[in-house]
Amino acid sequence: MISRIEEVPVQVRDMTHHDLALVSDIERRSYDFPWSHGVFRDCLLAGYSCLVLDRGGYVVGYGILSIAAGEAHILNLCIDPAFRSLGYGERLLDDMIHRAREADAQAMFLEVRPSNENARKLYQKKGFFRIAKRPAYYQSKSGREDADVLSLNLRRFGR
Ligand SMILES: CC(C)(COP(=O)(O)OP(=O)(O)OC[C@H]1O[C@@H](n2cnc3c(N)ncnc32)[C@H](O)[C@@H]1OP(=O)(O)O)[C@@H](O)C(=O)NCCC(=O)NCCS
Repeated sequence: MISRIEEVPVQVRDMTHHDLALVSDIERRSYDFPWSHGVFRDCLLAGYSCLVLDRGGYVVGYGILSIAAGEAHILNLCIDPAFRSLGYGERLLDDMIHRAREADAQAMFLEVRPSNENARKLYQKKGFFRIAKRPAYYQSKSGREDADVLSLNLRRFGR
């Protein structure tokens, strides 16, 4: 049985090479077209902000954030299917938004499948809005699927 979110210590910390096996396993169980182990390794080597959500010493989610030239781009955000709908995705996204603001990014961007209802609701809840469509951006089981490009204005509440 999964303990309630507040009963087990949860922290967001930097991903290390030691996390890659668990991260890749969550990725494989979450996506029809998962990133390979090598893609995560390259993200670490590229110096992206690679984060894991650590629940009592066990990785239950991860996020990859690229920040450059005042713009932050979420490249991946994923929670282990066994630990969804417990607030962890929002917790990790809040942390990524905080890090982007601390790095003086003025806007955050991401791509999402129009069919990904849960992710869309999460991003809508955090204030993201649709700015563009990338036709045939994703692989899908029936061919290609468009991506919606969403943006969050990080300056909205001013600093
Ligand atoms: C999208 C994802 C990260 C959400 O993580 P999560 O931990 O399950 O989400 P949370 O429990 O933090 O929920 C936060 C908000 O997201 C939305 N949401 C998440 N799961 C939902 C569901 N099953 N039904 C409806 N809304 C949902 C809601 O707005 C929710 O806020 P609320 O609880 O106040 O209604 C998770 O579903 C996931 O890893 N999906 C697979 C990978 C993926 O698609 N990533 C996004 C790529 S763009």
